[in-house]
Amino acid sequence: MKKLIGCIGLIISVCVFSSSGFAVSLDNQLVVEEQQFAAGAFEGPGTCLGCHHEIHTQWSHSMHAYAWQNRWYQDDYRLAHRETAGATDVLCGACHAPIAARTGQLPPHDGSAFDATARQGISCDFCHTVSDVNRLYNMGHVSSPGNLKYGNRGDGSSPYHGVKYSAVHRSAEFCGSCHNVKHPAGGTAIIDTYDDWKSGPYAEQGITCQHCHMTPGPGQGVNPGKSSPMGMERSNVAFHGFVGGSSFAQRKMGNEAQAQMAEEMLRAAAELELEAKRDGESLSLTVHVDNVGAGHKIPTGVTYIRKMWLEVKVEDEQGNTVYHSGSVDAKNHVDPEAVFYRLLFEDGEGNLTGKSWRAVGIGYDRRIPANGRDSETYAIRLPAEQGVYETTVRLMYRSFSQESLDFHDGADAPRIESVEMARSTLRIPQ
Ligand code: HEC
Ligand code: HEC
Ligand code: HEC
Ligand code: HEC
Ligand code: HEC
Repeated sequence: MKKLIGCIGLIISVCVFSSSGFAVSLDNQLVVEEQQFAAGAFEGPGTCLGCHHEIHTQWSHSMHAYAWQNRWYQDDYRLAHRETAGATDVLCGACHAPIAARTGQLPPHDGSAFDATARQGISCDFCHTVSDVNRLYNMGHVSSPGNLKYGNRGDGSSPYHGVKYSAVHRSAEFCGSCHNVKHPAGGTAIIDTYDDWKSGPYAEQGITCQHCHMTPGPGQGVNPGKSSPMGMERSNVAFHGFVGGSSFAQRKMGNEAQAQMAEEMLRAAAELELEAKRDGESLSLTVHVDNVGAGHKIPTGVTYIRKMWLEVKVEDEQGNTVYHSGSVDAKNHVDPEAVFYRLLFEDGEGNLTGKSWRAVGIGYDRRIPANGRDSETYAIRLPAEQGVYETTVRLMYRSFSQESLDFHDGADAPRIESVEMARSTLRIPQ
């Protein structure tokens, strides 16, 4: 990894930007793709299908396969394109359509020049022709497309291609080069999953992204079998579903099994603990949220698009609600007064924004670190009757806000589902 440090300045030399942000010539690209190959230099995933059928099926249901065509990505990408006069096209495309960006098929921004391989997002041959990583943010992968496929083994043989052991593929740096996004004009950390993992307890123990995201699911650490029917029997074959929290998108695209895996992943991340002190009509309720399962903060990634919050409900013995925070209204909007775990940026005018391209700094950041805890105390006024009360607290997650879906789709907007990550109840005696 020594090479990494020497190359960190690279982006400066290839970026056209000014510290004053987007006030400058917006017709310039914020990032220019550093490596260029001929169209067709990368093989399509269909070429790998015949011999790596299971891996292909897993990958084809992963968010990596949808990284470009995903319509919720496209909404945000097109908005960025319009608001920056195209300055963000190659920046976004470098990660969401890396083959297109590296083979001169992007721009134009609308994908009209993409071939079938480029459209399939982050596919087999992009990842398996990576020979090195020279920058740990904004896509610093070094591509060496060709017949040699780089992977985590190197001891097998294939009648179709060469195999080469690559330590990079076993490392978090391989993922981190994309799962770490910095604003090219000011350095604001847009996505910090890798940096956050690196400074946390899991990196110290050598537990990488692959250990949790390239296994079949929480608690299923191994996946014995063959990576190809022609290959060797292995005690663990890398699982390619790359499951995260995207149950909504997966369900909308018809991938029910992958949607359920995402919900399982979300439920593995957190636990709740409640403490209450009652003094007549006043109830002091403390909610502790523990990050017990994620190797990074929860939430992580594009948390400025996602929403995680606490729902707190107190009911009397007849089931009447006497207190409710974090409820969802008839329009499917979350109570704006709820406790939210996410990140929002500050724009040039000092306003909070979820538009990453406008970020000049961080405006709001409340997340729960790996193995860490967040605590919130609610001061609740109970009715005068001296009854027994039942408290229910839920930690909730949404991949998008209903407001942003409404913005893009108007009256036709789908209703975003809320996933319960954790729940705890407490009876409050007299
Ligand atoms: C004709 C069959 C065949 C085709 C087509 C094929 N592979 Fe393979 N591949 C194999 C076999 C066999 C192995 C060895 C499996 C083992 O080591 O157990 C292998 C191994 C691999 C490995 C593991 C490398 C290592 O040792 O770490 C990678 C990565 C890989 N293939 C990627 C690809 C990609 C990407 C494609 C499509 C562009 C592809 N393969 C197409 C048969 C094939
Ligand atoms: C986002 C990058 C990425 C994509 C896309 C991807 N892979 Fe992989 N693949 C990896 C990494 C990383 C490993 C090593 C994982 C580890 O060390 O646990 C791997 C491992 C493998 C292996 C070796 C499995 C084993 O454990 O023996 C094969 C074979 C393979 N990939 C083939 C493919 C094929 C075929 C596709 C497309 C259908 C594909 N990969 C898509 C990143 C990727
Ligand atoms: C070429 C850049 C790139 C590389 C390399 C990469 N990713 Fe990703 N990853 C993405 C992008 C972009 C998305 C989002 C796609 C979308 O939702 O449109 C994503 C999505 C994901 C998700 C799904 C999150 C969700 O919301 O469900 C997981 C999990 C994930 N990646 C894990 C990994 C791991 C683990 C590795 C390393 C083995 C890795 N990625 C390597 C770019 C990359
Ligand atoms: C100890 C296990 C563990 C490790 C290590 C780990 N993750 Fe995760 N990750 C999780 C769990 C559990 C979730 C689900 C909770 C969530 O979505 O916040 C998750 C969620 C995610 C998501 C989806 C976030 C969202 O809601 O959109 C991405 C992307 C991701 N991880 C990437 C990574 C990357 C990249 C690494 C390595 C730098 C990594 N993870 C390391 C367990 C892990
Ligand atoms: C350095 C790589 C990188 C760059 C550059 C990048 N992204 Fe992403 N993007 C990611 C990763 C990694 C994820 C997955 C994180 C997660 O699931 O929370 C992602 C996820 C997203 C999502 C969520 C998609 C979904 O299915 O939920 C949107 C929207 C998005 N990016 C928009 C953009 C836009 C717009 C740009 C350009 C201004 C951009 N991205 C630039 C890596 C990148």
